[in-house]
Amino acid sequence: MSGQATNRQWRLIERPIGMVGVQHFAYREEPAPSAADGEVLVRTLYVSFDPAMRAFLHDRPSYVPPQPVGEVMRAGAIGQVLESKASGFAAGDLVMGGFGWQDYAVANASAGVMKLPPSRPMTDYMSVLGGTGLTAYFGLLDVGRPKAGETVVISGAAGATGSSAVQISRIVGCRTIAIAGGEAKCRWTVEALGADAAIDYKHENLSARLGELAPDGIDVYFDNVGGATLEACIGRMRMHGRIALCGMISTYNDATPTPGPSNLFELITRRVRMEGFLAGDYVPRFAEARRAIEGWIDGGQLKSFVDVQEGFENIPKTFMRIFSGANVGKQTLKIADPPLPVPGQ
Ligand SMILES: NC(=O)c1ccc[n+]([C@@H]2O[C@H](COP(=O)([O-])OP(=O)(O)OC[C@H]3O[C@@H](n4cnc5c(N)ncnc54)[C@H](OP(=O)(O)O)[C@@H]3O)[C@@H](O)[C@H]2O)c1
Repeated sequence: MSGQATNRQWRLIERPIGMVGVQHFAYREEPAPSAADGEVLVRTLYVSFDPAMRAFLHDRPSYVPPQPVGEVMRAGAIGQVLESKASGFAAGDLVMGGFGWQDYAVANASAGVMKLPPSRPMTDYMSVLGGTGLTAYFGLLDVGRPKAGETVVISGAAGATGSSAVQISRIVGCRTIAIAGGEAKCRWTVEALGADAAIDYKHENLSARLGELAPDGIDVYFDNVGGATLEACIGRMRMHGRIALCGMISTYNDATPTPGPSNLFELITRRVRMEGFLAGDYVPRFAEARRAIEGWIDGGQLKSFVDVQEGFENIPKTFMRIFSGANVGKQTLKIADPPLPVPGQ
């Protein structure tokens, strides 16, 4: 890059055991890189914070390789192309990809860099039209297979995936019960997302409230959190119910192996199907899902909710927000305001 701008970065310096904290990351600066053939140089605008990033901090195999210690923290991001040596991309394009916790990244344009249409707010592609909206779409509709009129329960309901799942469940005509932490979040899931009822798992007896709100049982449980919440929902499933295992954030910071639900036998007696899924398995159908979601957005049925923090220095602190439950909707952090001046134009 001409002029050798400074590339601010946050790097992983130590693998956390137990709760991740700001002390596991260090601030570094180095000269901004330049694009080689086939690459784009991107200025990061918005960084995405995803619970799975905590899982990648472990030094053990998962569906993606562990985050290397000493390297820039990997993260999804939205950016603007400053320099392109790849066909199909030009300086000024808004793009999404794994640009990480840094100001500037070079990326192989054919490896997961997506050009964003300028017609919609770019943060929609981190929320309802991004990974979490697609996760909600496929997890709920393909794995949960709800029918209109059925009772759907969604945990982590005020978060990124949960807020999309609650709205989609409402759109397809299901009675939707949200589970979230705290009275304010619960009220928000009803007023902003259109849930029929909400349960504050931090202050209410979850199992008892599920019994009151779903006296005939749960048809579909969309699980974002695992642990005690999963156990309580298993205990309230209806005959031939479906559980879509999306994530288990309540366990990601556990220092020792998490005990499983003690009541799995109930899945047998009530013939419940419990199935894990990854949004990445549905890549060939992303266009179909985005068309449906865009239709709901344009029809005023579905909204994008984004929690935007600011300040490069606040990146590690913002990561902690998803584990403390501080976020409402999709957690992001804005590094720079677009559009940025494009060199040479
Ligand atoms: N399968 C897939 O392909 C896929 C894709 C994306 C995400 N996921 C999973 O989906 C889940 C949600 O991810 P997201 O990106 O949408 O994050 P998110 O829900 O926006 O943020 C995390 C939320 O989880 C809740 N939480 C944090 N610690 C918790 C705990 N110990 N017990 C219960 N709830 C806790 C908090 O809400 P409260 O204030 O309500 O506690 C927090 O706001 C995660 O488990 C993630 O791994 C899976």
